[in-house]
Amino acid sequence: MSIYTSLVRPLLFRFEPETAHRFTLAALRVPGLARLLVPRKPPVADKVSLMGLTFRNRLGIAAGVDKNGDAPLAWRDLGFGFAELGTVTYHPQPGNPRPRVFRYPSERALVNRLGFPNIGAKAFASRLRRLRTRQAVYDFPIGINLGKSKVTPLPDAPSDYLGSLKILHALGDFFVINISSPNTAGLRDLAQPDDLRRLLSALQEFNRSTSDPKPLLLKISPDSEDRYLPDLVAITREFQLAGIVATNTTSQRTPENPHEAGGLSGHPLTHRALTVARIIRPLLARDQILIGVGGVMDSGHYRLRRQAGADLVQMYTGLVYLGPTAAWDILGRS
Ligand SMILES: Cc1cc2nc3c(=O)[nH]c(=O)nc-3n(C[C@H](O)[C@H](O)[C@H](O)COP(=O)(O)O)c2cc1C
Repeated sequence: MSIYTSLVRPLLFRFEPETAHRFTLAALRVPGLARLLVPRKPPVADKVSLMGLTFRNRLGIAAGVDKNGDAPLAWRDLGFGFAELGTVTYHPQPGNPRPRVFRYPSERALVNRLGFPNIGAKAFASRLRRLRTRQAVYDFPIGINLGKSKVTPLPDAPSDYLGSLKILHALGDFFVINISSPNTAGLRDLAQPDDLRRLLSALQEFNRSTSDPKPLLLKISPDSEDRYLPDLVAITREFQLAGIVATNTTSQRTPENPHEAGGLSGHPLTHRALTVARIIRPLLARDQILIGVGGVMDSGHYRLRRQAGADLVQMYTGLVYLGPTAAWDILGRS
């Protein structure tokens, strides 16, 4: 048992999940604090170049952990190889009423129905601009996950995402187009082929018109039926996306799963997210990458996701249960 699991976690878990998360982010904003919480030697490194970017290891922070870019470099200090910030929407928005995040320790699971609370693309851009001018960040790519603003009707989704991409384009190393969160009404409908083509065409056309086009990836749901996955992958190839992030949280429940409404993550998602990775990998183009996410709670899950062909792996729920040494627990100690 680590100090985190025996002492800190029980204390943090006495607070409502969002409050505990806010404490954690506030602590990680204190310069240098993250480094005091972890071993001095970095976790086992497996440095790799993908999408034209250098990653010092293949394990990253999934979207949702740092929605507003509160502590982008602390994730590096905690041993991770990259971070995907956001989801960011064009308009700032408060998200759904609380409570909206629920823990299930015996299942090593979370349920959330946050609904993309975030400061909006403009405010997010000023934060990242400060970071980028203060400090050159080598070997720690920062991705930005883009979602649809709640107030924007679904048919106007392409211009909403495009508005965010234009504001943030220079500030992210890669972008993830999120059409798979279960907590924004209608968002998953954007996976319909015609709608998806309209969205990707708008984003890629702008991206290509810039002097420095960025890798664009699509984040998909674990709840798409297997027979639709080949079409989804084909569309990402058609628009030459850099890859796929699989998967988001699930709306599906088995009788033993927590029944609170929202997206379920963590251990109950491990098997489905691994299956989706296995289906998708052989369908991707050779230069496309797969970021595997969903229920990576230990080093065995990480290994299996890599064996399924995930070039990079991300975690969110595992971080809550493992604490600051999660990257060492998953990648091994050097
Ligand atoms: C509290 C919470 C908030 C999340 N917020 C986002 C988000 O804003 N955007 C997104 O694409 N995914 C979001 N996710 C999904 C995660 O990025 C990840 O895809 C999912 O939780 C599965 O990974 P895990 O089992 O390691 O948590 C969120 C997950 C959780 C638990």
